[in-house]
Amino acid sequence: MSSPRVLVLNGPNLGRLGTREPEVYGHETIEDLAARCRAVADELGLVADVRQTDDEATLVGWLHEAVDTRSHVVLNPAAFTHYSYAVRDACAQVTSAGLTLVEVHLSNPATRETFRHTSVVAGVSTGTVAGFGLGSYDLALRAVAARAR
Ligand code: DQA
Repeated sequence: MSSPRVLVLNGPNLGRLGTREPEVYGHETIEDLAARCRAVADELGLVADVRQTDDEATLVGWLHEAVDTRSHVVLNPAAFTHYSYAVRDACAQVTSAGLTLVEVHLSNPATRETFRHTSVVAGVSTGTVAGFGLGSYDLALRAVAARAR
């Protein structure tokens, strides 16, 4: 049987990791994040494709692609988390297709500004991991691997 595929999708401003508010998001870059996800996925027997976009339509298109290619998803929707019903509706198609979708955040939005306390994506996700920096992605990939077995 071929290895389960996982799309690791990152939303707006995450391409600026390393220089963006390092006191909140850490010093690692998006390239560091991608390399770590690929290594962890490899250890877990998953094939990871790590992407980042600032564009809502592109992110929605990638979620449709996950459905069409039967790929699981680890998603950091970034600011889209808090208001994008388009991203939410695309996530709903992923979980409704029986695929795992884990919402991840580097920081813990529940401890931050009030507008970050709402996730419009959480209700259509398999689960959420937040607050562990890049470790949030490790835990999310573990959850995907455990469910794919
Ligand atoms: C974030 C948290 C969001 O509130 C914020 O808009 C981001 C990053 C995180 O990973 O902690 O861009 O998703």
